[in-house]
Amino acid sequence: MFEEEDYGVDESLIVSTKTEYDAEENVLRPKAMSDYVGQQKVKENLGVYIAAAKARGEALDHVLLYGPPGLGKTTLSHIIANELGVSIKLTSGPAIERSGDLAAILTNLNDGDVLFIDEIHRLNRSVEEILYSAMEDYALDIIVGKGPSARNIRFALKKFTLIGATTRVGMLAAPLRDRFGIINRLEMYTPAELQEIVSRSAKALDISIEDEAAAEIARRSRGTPRIANRLLKRVRDFSLVKGNVTITREDARFALSRLEIDELGLDETDRNLLRALIEKFNGGPTGLETLAATINEDANTIEDVYEPYLLQLGFIARTPRGRICLKDGYAHMGLQPSLKAKRQISIFETDDE
Ligand SMILES: Nc1ncnc2c1ncn2[C@@H]1O[C@H](COP(=O)(O)OP(=O)(O)O)[C@@H](O)[C@H]1O
Ligand SMILES: [Mg+2]
Repeated sequence: MFEEEDYGVDESLIVSTKTEYDAEENVLRPKAMSDYVGQQKVKENLGVYIAAAKARGEALDHVLLYGPPGLGKTTLSHIIANELGVSIKLTSGPAIERSGDLAAILTNLNDGDVLFIDEIHRLNRSVEEILYSAMEDYALDIIVGKGPSARNIRFALKKFTLIGATTRVGMLAAPLRDRFGIINRLEMYTPAELQEIVSRSAKALDISIEDEAAAEIARRSRGTPRIANRLLKRVRDFSLVKGNVTITREDARFALSRLEIDELGLDETDRNLLRALIEKFNGGPTGLETLAATINEDANTIEDVYEPYLLQLGFIARTPRGRICLKDGYAHMGLQPSLKAKRQISIFETDDE
């Protein structure tokens, strides 16, 4: 048996986010493909590739998973490793600072193992270049020595599977993206799927909840399982304090309103964003940075966390000149577009259809 320390792998490089160590979080994470709700197409395709790789006795081709945070990229990666019957090593783009760090991780992988790199768009260039030959030829190219005596030494690696996860597929360099044989985008979940997830999670956490309450939470979870699970826990807290044994729809509604989460799952930041776009910028177009500064939020957070759902709802649109607020966005805020804003919306909304 090999031990990581024997090979000098720095433990701090094998990182995991805090939530992944959280015991409750672990209980909630489905372990098998059959327990992974939704994402039907992705599951079916992966099922075929996994079965084929196993039949051939080869490592699964490299997999890229992308989509907004909380949709199940990390969870799915664990499931893929489980279904392949191999172990998984977790790290992330920002955690690997030097190419030597990545080399150490790669040389410690066993045949067929999965290496999961979260936020793979944040790898630095020199580290990323090590990945090219590792992914393509299962080889590590290292330059030894300096100046005229420098030479290239090639080490063979075990045949491993890289699973990369990112919220920003557009930020991935083309040579890296092209080396993934399997590329999947995770979609937002339907309320019915989220309800199933909430009910499953409630069972796992030993929480008794009425279907109606689970549905209420599901509807306000912005298409995102992580949010559904978080809201379930908060609703449970409110219900517990009230002394209720079973969470009712009324409990859910009460708790969600206390959390300032509206009927569609929008929170204070979403509403600030829409309000700023409408009242300060006459509906836009407004650049992301300007919008971020106006509502005092981080631009990356807006782009990764807030915008995907507002875009999905059709409340805002991204145009080459910036973000604009659409008809439904105005309606949700109970505000009327000005004439100029109306004209802009009509150009955009007819263009789109
Ligand atoms: N398809 C799914 N079915 C059931 N639960 C899910 C699913 N996808 C995600 N979850 C739950 O949501 C949480 C967040 O998922 P995660 O894999 O960490 O998302 P990501 O890595 O995309 O940010 C997980 O803890 C898991 O419990
Ligand atoms: Mg993740």
